[in-house]
Amino acid sequence: LSTSATSAAQAQDHVDNARLQAAIAALAAFGGRPDGGVSRETLTEVDLASRRHLIEQARALGCEVMVDDCANLFFRRAGQRNDLPPVLTGSHGDTQPVGGKLDGAYGVLAGLEVIAALNDAGIETIRPIEVVAWTNEEGSRFGPGTMGSSAFVEPSRLAGYLDSVDKNKVRFGDALQTALASTPDVPRCAMQRPMSACVELHIEQGPVLERAGIPLGVVTGIQAVRWFSVTCHGMMAHAGTTPMDERRDAMAAAVPLAQKLYDFAAAEAASQLRLTLGRWQVAPNSVNTIPGRVEFTVDMRCVDDSVLDRFEAFLRAEVAAAGEAMEVSRFFQREPTHFPAPMLKLIEEAATRASAQAGLPAPMALTSGAFHDAMYVADHCPTAMIFVPSKNGISHNAAEATDPRDLFLGVQALAYTVTALANQ
Ligand code: GLV
Ligand code: MN
Ligand code: MN
Ligand code: MN
Repeated sequence: LSTSATSAAQAQDHVDNARLQAAIAALAAFGGRPDGGVSRETLTEVDLASRRHLIEQARALGCEVMVDDCANLFFRRAGQRNDLPPVLTGSHGDTQPVGGKLDGAYGVLAGLEVIAALNDAGIETIRPIEVVAWTNEEGSRFGPGTMGSSAFVEPSRLAGYLDSVDKNKVRFGDALQTALASTPDVPRCAMQRPMSACVELHIEQGPVLERAGIPLGVVTGIQAVRWFSVTCHGMMAHAGTTPMDERRDAMAAAVPLAQKLYDFAAAEAASQLRLTLGRWQVAPNSVNTIPGRVEFTVDMRCVDDSVLDRFEAFLRAEVAAAGEAMEVSRFFQREPTHFPAPMLKLIEEAATRASAQAGLPAPMALTSGAFHDAMYVADHCPTAMIFVPSKNGISHNAAEATDPRDLFLGVQALAYTVTALANQ
């Protein structure tokens, strides 16, 4: 073993499962729900409180804390050569309107646990290590998602996010100012800072690892995603008095379009095209008024971007055929992400060691169905991800869960990977 592999193994062996589980429970209290889930949408009061909690935890570990213009939080553990670009790990602190304890939070807390393990092992890495908590990965309160990581990688994107409003018409730009003002003691750092490599640990949020009975996944890439907003225009009128053939009912136009989209997706089942019509807004949303306007979102994803090209063309043609009665706009798009082979090789080495020590099967390679901050960071520095199984494949749900043993193994693999990268 080289010196670097020795300290990577030492870091791995100092990960403390009890401390990890306690940290997950403590963060889940911010926005904790009676059903066991977590509601901590980005930049809400509970999110800001959870950020202050993370800052305290990181400072207790000896980290320097910094925040950038998009309120991304960085917790930095110094190395021997602090002039070198750091190794980055972490994930996002925000959740869906009804989320679980792990989506995002796990990756951030895992990063802090790696730092605790390095402290306990007395290891000084060559490069500094930074743990990040990205702002607004989810995109549920302010669209699009992955605002923090995409703006970090390309700061000119931030200006385009500021006017995004939530359902109460709060601007993202204003929520961001409030967030930055809530941590006056945290120095500002630059966006787009050089990073030597990035590893994001996350729950799979799907059924692949659990079905295979394998505790660790080496994520080779992320499928392509596009988000659209479709608006159907009609005319509000009385539900009881207006004859059926004299209505301009926006819902009567939206429903057949939705069905055509589902039919298209069903016909593309072989390419594993995924379609979600997740958010519907009906005006005036009244039981006895004909809908004057219906707006719904389309989330389409596929590992093969050319399938999305065809699906988008189909959607646009259907909308165009309706003339002025329908509009569509795309507000988010990402091509498939492919993580670099040397990163995958290192993660495989780390995950193989962790699983073997636990007497469990070797890691498997898989692609990510969900998008992640790592998707944008991959444009900035060599990046990859590690997955652990999700019970019943469920996420974006209060019932989201992972066996504590697997959560532990994931952090062990992360500790090895980050330490090895920090000594390169
Ligand atoms: C975010 O969690 C997404 O993949 O939609
Ligand atoms: Mn996530
Ligand atoms: Mn999510
Ligand atoms: Mn996500």
